[in-house]
Amino acid sequence: MRYQRATASVPQAREGERVAVRAALERLGGGPHQRIVELGSGQGFGTSELLPRLAPQGQLIGVDASAAMMSRMAAHPQLKLHVGALDDMQMRPGSVDFAFSLAAFHHIPNKFIVMQELARVLADDACFMVIDVTHGTPAQEVFDYLVRPYCVSGHDADFLDEGWMRLLAARSGLRFESFELADMDWQFDDRASMLQYVCDLFCLRMSAEEAAPHIERWLKPYRRADGGWTLPWFMGVYLLRKVAQ
Ligand SMILES: C[S@@+](CC[C@H](N)C(=O)[O-])C[C@H]1O[C@@H](n2cnc3c(N)ncnc32)[C@H](O)[C@@H]1O
Repeated sequence: MRYQRATASVPQAREGERVAVRAALERLGGGPHQRIVELGSGQGFGTSELLPRLAPQGQLIGVDASAAMMSRMAAHPQLKLHVGALDDMQMRPGSVDFAFSLAAFHHIPNKFIVMQELARVLADDACFMVIDVTHGTPAQEVFDYLVRPYCVSGHDADFLDEGWMRLLAARSGLRFESFELADMDWQFDDRASMLQYVCDLFCLRMSAEEAAPHIERWLKPYRRADGGWTLPWFMGVYLLRKVAQ
């Protein structure tokens, strides 16, 4: 899979994103958690930031539609993987004390139904943190105007913004707590590996050089003083909470 080729070719590319995700989790505080659910775990990039937040007997349940993606995740005694739909998490009401989703929520076609399911499984006072590409940012533009038309498998996605998240929260009975746009720049050793990474990660039906003007137009990559390349990347960090009725 080209996605795996990209992540294997430049394993450090998302380190800036990792630092930002860790900082958001640390700002939230709370825990240690007995049961965390992660929506759209993929290969486990965000999962590794969640595992240290578990209590010694706690469990992290990663839910993802793709068995192929989750098959790449390192096994961990406190990690359980569930391949399946997010609108039926097969968990008891009130049994989850933290829910998290990274770079995946835009894929969900029935966002309200999934939020309703989360409101059911979250315990009182538990939080749901969503980190995702946000409408009205360059990252959304590159998805809509480069990835959507040129991705070999298609990429029809709806990106959240603060207003939409507030509406979803209100309709599903969760309290909207905060939103911030965070820099999560991706880092590369050189321009060629940056362009190839983007082409492979997004499975683009074009060469790296053909993609270059599009990437430059929307994301404005730049050469750093150390000679490496930075691809500016932004995601929204949304925080919702289940409040006792
Ligand atoms: C861009 S990847 C992000 C994976 C991981 N969270 C990360 O940050 O590396 C998006 C993930 O969402 C999953 N996904 C897409 N649509 C989904 C759905 N409707 N239900 C569950 N997972 C879904 C994909 O299989 C993929 O693993």
